[in-house]
Amino acid sequence: MTGPDGPVDPWSLHAQTDGYLSEDEVLLAARANANDLGCFPVDAGAGAGLRFLAATISARAVVEIGTGAGVSGLWLLRGMSPDGVLTSIDIDPEYQRVARAAFTAAGYGPSRLRLINGLGLDVLPRLTDGGYDLAFLDAVKAEYPEYLEHALRLVRPGGVIIADNVLWSGRVADPKATDPDTEGLRAYARRIAADDRLDSVILTIGDGLAVSRVRRHEELEA
Ligand SMILES: C[S@@+](CC[C@H](N)C(=O)[O-])C[C@H]1O[C@@H](n2cnc3c(N)ncnc32)[C@H](O)[C@@H]1O
Repeated sequence: MTGPDGPVDPWSLHAQTDGYLSEDEVLLAARANANDLGCFPVDAGAGAGLRFLAATISARAVVEIGTGAGVSGLWLLRGMSPDGVLTSIDIDPEYQRVARAAFTAAGYGPSRLRLINGLGLDVLPRLTDGGYDLAFLDAVKAEYPEYLEHALRLVRPGGVIIADNVLWSGRVADPKATDPDTEGLRAYARRIAADDRLDSVILTIGDGLAVSRVRRHEELEA
């Protein structure tokens, strides 16, 4: 990218967007837990994006794949309706124990939470068609195309599907990177762009958030 004074370092832009909002004690504590556990949470910029999108659609039912230590869940809960329920799936029970403690400490009780321990691809088929306003994908990158198929079934028309890490620290743009996670992220980006059921955009906050709105039936017919 070029600015008025010449080339602009993309990382300095990144520092500005992700440092734009500072996180409070609750989020910083959850982030510290994530770091201790070796789990990689959403950046603050992406978290703010999740909160913004959840609030914009007054999300009451959200499904997340990849609970981690609860950083993204806290951001989502802050944007959701006061009676909204976060369903969050993770393979690691210890991560979910830590996340539940963070949610509880932040004032989100059992009626707001449904934490499901299991593999994303095992649990997703059991969830209700059209039962969710928002799906957030943040577990195995190679599985994103399969998560998308489930999300298209689970999210109601007018709802939103969000995927984290679609820039993968630049690896998606590196032709030499051909590992399954990078290829899965590329395939995901191609599919959401080509799918007539979705309006999609990639936001370059955090490590890249792909945001897709599920078109309503009348929009499909127009
Ligand atoms: C990047 S971390 C999630 C971070 C969390 N969304 C946040 O921002 O705070 C990815 C999570 O996916 C979980 N995970 C890995 N493989 C999984 C699978 N096959 N099914 C469900 N969860 C999985 C990991 O245990 C880890 O907690």
